[in-house]
Amino acid sequence: MTKQITILIGTMTGNAQLVGQELELRFDGEGIQVETVDMDKLTPDIFGSDGIYLICTSTYGQGDVPDNARAFIESLISSKPNLKKIRYGLIALGDRTYAETFCFGGKRFDEVLQECGAERIGDILMHDASSGTMPEEEAADWSEGWLELCDRVMSAD
Ligand SMILES: Cc1cc2nc3c(=O)[nH]c(=O)nc-3n(C[C@H](O)[C@H](O)[C@H](O)COP(=O)(O)O)c2cc1C
Repeated sequence: MTKQITILIGTMTGNAQLVGQELELRFDGEGIQVETVDMDKLTPDIFGSDGIYLICTSTYGQGDVPDNARAFIESLISSKPNLKKIRYGLIALGDRTYAETFCFGGKRFDEVLQECGAERIGDILMHDASSGTMPEEEAADWSEGWLELCDRVMSAD
């Protein structure tokens, strides 16, 4: 059973925050230790503890991460910490109207974390705001399969 999940939120107008709140409730109900933190003041030190991380971030500008995630992703790029022991899932919020940069904020985190050696569990969930579906509902459905994958990976250790 997955024991500890830290959800990291990159958001501008709160959708990713809602996703985090919904998942925190669900994970908590499954007896998982869960903590949700905004990326605002994060440094790479957040990856110091054991457990699994879930990145949940939207996309702004020309495919950028939201403002509150900018310093964090830049500190990862410049310090390039060794994250070989880190596993993470990824929820990217975007809008297909921005066809050239759909969900690029989440994809940027994926690239940077992979470059640091971290291992992604499962496929990226990409939510399309123009689809009319609620990101927190899609994320809750997605998280069921993702948690199973996490259990499988953890029990193979
Ligand atoms: C000014 C602006 C720029 C955006 N740029 C992009 C983009 O380049 N690519 C994308 O996939 N979505 C883009 N989006 C859509 C947001 O990422 C999407 O609405 C998301 O759900 C917002 O989540 P948040 O409230 O957590 O910030 C943009 C939205 C706004 C308002």
